[in-house]
Amino acid sequence: MPAIVLVGAQWGDEGKGKATDLLASRIDYVVKFNGDNNAGHTVVVGNEKYALHLLPSGILTPGVTPVISNGVVIDLEVLFGELSALSSRGIDVSRLRVSANAHIITSYHRTLDKVTERFLGKRQIGTTGRGIGPTYADKINRVGIRVQDIFDEGILRQKVESALEIKNHLLVKIYNRRAITADEVITELLSFADRLRPMVCDTSLELNNALDANKTVLFEGGQATMLDVDHGTYPFVTSSNATSGGALTGSGIGPKRVDRVIAVVKAYTTRVGSGPFPTELFDESGEYLRSKGFEFGTTTGRPRRCGWYDAPIARYTTRINGVTDFVLTKLDVLTGLDQIPVCVAYDVDGTRVDEVPVNQSDFHHATPIYENFPGWTEDITGVRKFDDLPANAQKYVLALEAMSGARFSAIGVGPARDAIVVRHDLV
Ligand code: GDP
Ligand code: IMO
Ligand code: MG
Repeated sequence: MPAIVLVGAQWGDEGKGKATDLLASRIDYVVKFNGDNNAGHTVVVGNEKYALHLLPSGILTPGVTPVISNGVVIDLEVLFGELSALSSRGIDVSRLRVSANAHIITSYHRTLDKVTERFLGKRQIGTTGRGIGPTYADKINRVGIRVQDIFDEGILRQKVESALEIKNHLLVKIYNRRAITADEVITELLSFADRLRPMVCDTSLELNNALDANKTVLFEGGQATMLDVDHGTYPFVTSSNATSGGALTGSGIGPKRVDRVIAVVKAYTTRVGSGPFPTELFDESGEYLRSKGFEFGTTTGRPRRCGWYDAPIARYTTRINGVTDFVLTKLDVLTGLDQIPVCVAYDVDGTRVDEVPVNQSDFHHATPIYENFPGWTEDITGVRKFDDLPANAQKYVLALEAMSGARFSAIGVGPARDAIVVRHDLV
């Protein structure tokens, strides 16, 4: 079972960090293939809580080699901040490998992310402000700075100067900000070069060699299917491919390597930032999910928008990613509810629509058609076998499974590392 891809099924924060951590003891490599420190994964190990942004969650497991591959955009200050915070808590970070082809987030990308959002006013995306969008835009525009560039000062200077030429016009003339000098950017980037050099390699070659040697590699997606730049709720998306295809282009492995695609899905739905969200709740039920599920962003601390489970979205996720297994998380958060509504289809201008509409305006207008499931009151956080869950909790899970297009192989019943019911082995 060499290559496994793990993605988010909804709009992020499904508990991918915990799911990766669950698998980590049986894998050799964990690869982050998209995004950067817009991601926020919380992993609880014993009494310790770790918030990871840039590093793959598998870094917490001894023996696993963490890899940041070419599809990622890297903020070097964040990278070294996270590495030193983990080392000071006794985590061995020495095995980290970083792709020479990954792109670098610079200070001008961060500045542009913030000023562009301000400029958009009401139409803003609600980005995490980390410079993700502008860095990917430069990559596609072929004016990006890559990891390998910081080891050659001449090339770095040439690239930074040419990137700043246009950007400074924008910053000064449109956004009324000060110009950024090439020297300040170059000095900052060069200050990381010596520490970065030993980690940098051809990660595609290393991963393919590992797969040839029958090692198990887990590709851990940041963000989620509905935030994917191609398949999400564009333009309210992140700027990378967070779906399973992104694991291939984002790391340089071929599609035949992948034999399992795991999607992590919450027992309800949340979203941070702007954009359509049919099952969003504006009443006390939403407040209930937010406070009981502790739905506040790991990266920005923003309260997450909350709503009921959306089965058409889960089916869409199965289709776009080729999902083989779901990990359902946060079932415990629903404990105590009398009735649990599940969106089974949408009403779009008076017509029943069973799948996620391809037209963005239709999705904006879609109102959920709900089916109600009876709740349970028993505490389930200590349950480790499916048959020991309350009958109504079992029925809820089986109903979601039947609607979502792939088997539900594991069920999260609490934040702790071991609070999980495994129905089918994932590795
Ligand atoms: P990620 O971005 O997908 O890794 O998810 P986040 O870490 O941003 O958000 C998921 C949150 O849910 C974290 O605080 C986890 O500790 C927590 N969590 C994960 N699984 C469960 C679960 O089954 N039950 C509960 N109550 N919390 C969970
Ligand atoms: P994890 O990996 C939830 C959202 C932002 C914004 C949009 C674009 O923890 O699930 P960006 O800064 O990426 O340009 O913002 O995407 N977003 C996330 N929402 N979880 C995340 O990551 C997210 N990463 C980005 O809120 O709406
Ligand atoms: Mg998160």
